[in-house]
Amino acid sequence: MSRVPYIAGNWKMHLTKRKASSLARDVAAHQGENATRKVAVFPTFLHLDYVRRNLKGSNVILGAQNCYGKKEGAFTGEISPYMLRDMGVKVVMIGHSERRHVFGETDAMMVEKVKITLRAKLDVMLCVGETLDEREAGKTFAVLARQMRALKVVKPTQIDRITVAYEPVWAIGTGKTATPEMAQEAHAECRRLVGDILGADAAATIPVLYGGSVKAGNAAELLSQPDVDGALVGGASLSINDFGPIIDAAKA
Ligand code: 13P
Repeated sequence: MSRVPYIAGNWKMHLTKRKASSLARDVAAHQGENATRKVAVFPTFLHLDYVRRNLKGSNVILGAQNCYGKKEGAFTGEISPYMLRDMGVKVVMIGHSERRHVFGETDAMMVEKVKITLRAKLDVMLCVGETLDEREAGKTFAVLARQMRALKVVKPTQIDRITVAYEPVWAIGTGKTATPEMAQEAHAECRRLVGDILGADAAATIPVLYGGSVKAGNAAELLSQPDVDGALVGGASLSINDFGPIIDAAKA
């Protein structure tokens, strides 16, 4: 079973409505009618509607960077996946390292978010990855196993709505990238864990993306690894000059 290469841009807390709109148009034009690769962008909540309008007619997927783990209620400042769907969002990023490490979100919260996002009929991009301390203490696989447990709530009929992104925390925004061999080792483990939790078909079909200082210069080598199905790009997704060549490095 082959997996379609998947390149995603996480715009984090960047851009203005005008710049987000213009970048959306650039990404849509770059992707064109290409069906041999998937491309997604994750703007801020505020820019979702501008980006949606500027992606119209393209096959670029609209994603949100986060959600709250409840359908609705007295949760000031939070956004429900049902609201995201209403805004035209198709996929929600859950468990990004900045949510876990800057905002202190827990594994238990990720479970709630995965559950409600799937219930809202949106796709999930579950982010996992170890800190430098955890890697140096030899705990990388234990961390992945703990974080991937959020997939236990996925039903067999929902498997095709799941993507995993392996993002070693020490490689995010630091200019330090995992070597292709390190990425492959962690991705193979993520895939093995998917197999344990959701079965062999899920392991064969769920894409595992790599994130952490992906650039035009290192994308092709990372993507050439057998278990690296795509990239989740931060800084280099903010301009089409940087992001375009990364999209082009995705080959079926
Ligand atoms: P950078 O590509 O800026 O390292 O960010 C990676 C990331 O966190 C994507 O979600």
